Amino acid sequence: MVQGERNPRQSQKVLIAAIAVFVTAAFVLILALAISDTSSPVTGAADSGAYAEALATALAGADAAIGERLIAENDCASCHLIGDGQTAPLFDGLASVAGARRPPLSAEQYLFEAIVLPAAHLVAGYANAMPNNYDERFSLTDIGHMIAHLLLLTGD
Ligand code: HEC
Repeated sequence: MVQGERNPRQSQKVLIAAIAVFVTAAFVLILALAISDTSSPVTGAADSGAYAEALATALAGADAAIGERLIAENDCASCHLIGDGQTAPLFDGLASVAGARRPPLSAEQYLFEAIVLPAAHLVAGYANAMPNNYDERFSLTDIGHMIAHLLLLTGD
């Protein structure tokens, strides 16, 4: 063989290796996209067991009167109590619909998720505008107080 000339079998091998690298990269990319998609809270399926422990802690000794005060003092009102419900769903009547918002979540589980992980599920017709740091801003106990208050708002 003349020096410098490429062995055709060798270039075939190089080509096969290049294709293998490309296919692997594409596969990894698709896998990464699939994983990131299913782990995204926005598309995550409701899991009624996911909040069980935190919710039990939150609701132990929950006091609706404290919850009402917390809701009044923490700006929830600017979106949820004032206006015509365009910015955010009005709280009035929430207790009557919460249990049906995101089956199989119970009303308590749904309200808990709506506060600590608002992007997991959006009320139809509304943007993802809830502050997303309430899980850090409020203790579980305070979240429990707020849930206890919201559960009283049947709209009757
Ligand atoms: C900047 C506006 C804004 C503020 C402030 C805000 N929210 Fe929201 N909230 C929204 C919007 C918009 C939605 C509807 C989209 C969604 O489901 O996340 C929502 C949804 C909810 C829901 C579900 C309501 C339903 O009808 O199913 C609950 C519960 C809730 N918020 C609780 C709170 C609490 C408690 C606070 C205060 C500690 C608060 N929000 C503060 C905008 C806000």
